[in-house]
Amino acid sequence: MKRQKSKYVCQSCGYQSLRWLGKCPECGEWNSFYEELETRSKSVNAAAKNADKPIPVTRIKETDYARFKTGISEFDRVLGGGIVPGSAILIGGAPGIGKSTLLLQVCEALVKNDLTVLYISGEESLSQIKSRAVRIGIASENLLLAAETDVDVISGFFEEHRPDLVIVDSVQTVFSDQMESLPGNISQVRYSGHTLTSIAKKTHIPLFLVGHVNKAGNVAGPRVLEHLVDVLILMEGDNNYFRLLRPIKNRFGSTQEVGIFEMTGKGLRQVHNPSEYLTAQIETDTPGTVVTASLEGTRALLVEVQALVSTTNYGIPQRTVSGIDQRRLAILLAVMEKHAGMRFGTKDVFATIAGGLKISEPALDLAVICAIASSSFSKPVHIKTVIGGEVGLTGEIRGIPNPEARIKEAERLGYEHIVLPFQNVSGIKKQAYGIDISGVKTLKQVIKKLFGS
Ligand code: TYD
Ligand code: MG
Repeated sequence: MKRQKSKYVCQSCGYQSLRWLGKCPECGEWNSFYEELETRSKSVNAAAKNADKPIPVTRIKETDYARFKTGISEFDRVLGGGIVPGSAILIGGAPGIGKSTLLLQVCEALVKNDLTVLYISGEESLSQIKSRAVRIGIASENLLLAAETDVDVISGFFEEHRPDLVIVDSVQTVFSDQMESLPGNISQVRYSGHTLTSIAKKTHIPLFLVGHVNKAGNVAGPRVLEHLVDVLILMEGDNNYFRLLRPIKNRFGSTQEVGIFEMTGKGLRQVHNPSEYLTAQIETDTPGTVVTASLEGTRALLVEVQALVSTTNYGIPQRTVSGIDQRRLAILLAVMEKHAGMRFGTKDVFATIAGGLKISEPALDLAVICAIASSSFSKPVHIKTVIGGEVGLTGEIRGIPNPEARIKEAERLGYEHIVLPFQNVSGIKKQAYGIDISGVKTLKQVIKKLFGS
């Protein structure tokens, strides 16, 4: 008989200990240890005898992945061109962001092409899924639904129904009674994730797993599922209408892509021309608004940065942001005080990205600064101008990646002037573009050029 030992596992990072601990020495989490039973493993020699022998790399044939497309091009793009048979794809995102909606739309696209999809939900009842399916407009015999949470039963479905795709929504609801802990615990998630990805590989049926993310943006405890799956895609967006799909890991493609969607009354709609959406609102020169060209993956996106500077009425001056990092704003204000002689000690400063997008690339700096300066001086930046550049602590404008993509996008959308770091534009053939390009070196120079002060 196998002897069982017990161990305690941190639900946050997977750290193991022989006794229960109040605080995890690895990740510092409190109250995160749960008991798990350990089964003794077989002897090393016996295991090696049954295994495949290692072979030289030169003798291995390269396979060209026979992907199949979903037909939703924004989604296929982030997948790296389509779904690879036998692969496991994890879709992570906050509750309510639209993961189930997206996957049901993938179902719709596939069943239309006579493929069969098995959608397993542990979160919603069949009638709830049905009503969403009606909303999206699916009525096909090829979409099979099951409300099931037992991982062994789900594994059995793969063999029994042999669908072209299996969706498990969500992995946190799946459990195995071979494990002692509750569904959603790290050991359950890891075990279920492992079982399902192995069965997908074995049967060559691709698998989508839905995973809820916690506040830190991790799927069910850091790194637990991420290394198990082939592809990890995060779905982001505020409660606004935009939804971004961002691949964090992709064994079959690039992670330099994003897919952009809009939530409508009939599910998610692809946004092929996001720049038009994000900048169309301004029609006349207005102080406090600046358009910048931001890079999302390999795509340049024009977005509008807005700022409002007003006198603090009482107490501590406010620094309020949306879509921009608050600490970055504090740094930029300090740089403006030091290098452009502006004063914000008694001013409230608000800065946002229109459209609910979050942007973290440093190329945003100069646009934020110009929007703040514009509001502060009550002088507009010319409406057909795009501004981009990283701003250093000494007030220098630093180069940014892929300026050509940004210039082209600005040109495509009919902008007349683009301001970029000197470093980026000095080597560029300006005549080749139908847009006026200027290079800037310091913050002082930019403020003088745009606002004359
Ligand atoms: P859902 O896909 O259930 O999110 P998740 O699976 O990530 O938790 O739905 C997200 C929200 O989208 C939900 O609050 C309702 C809304 N929604 C629409 O606005 N339009 C639609 O057509 C659908 C199906 C949902
Ligand atoms: Mg859901």
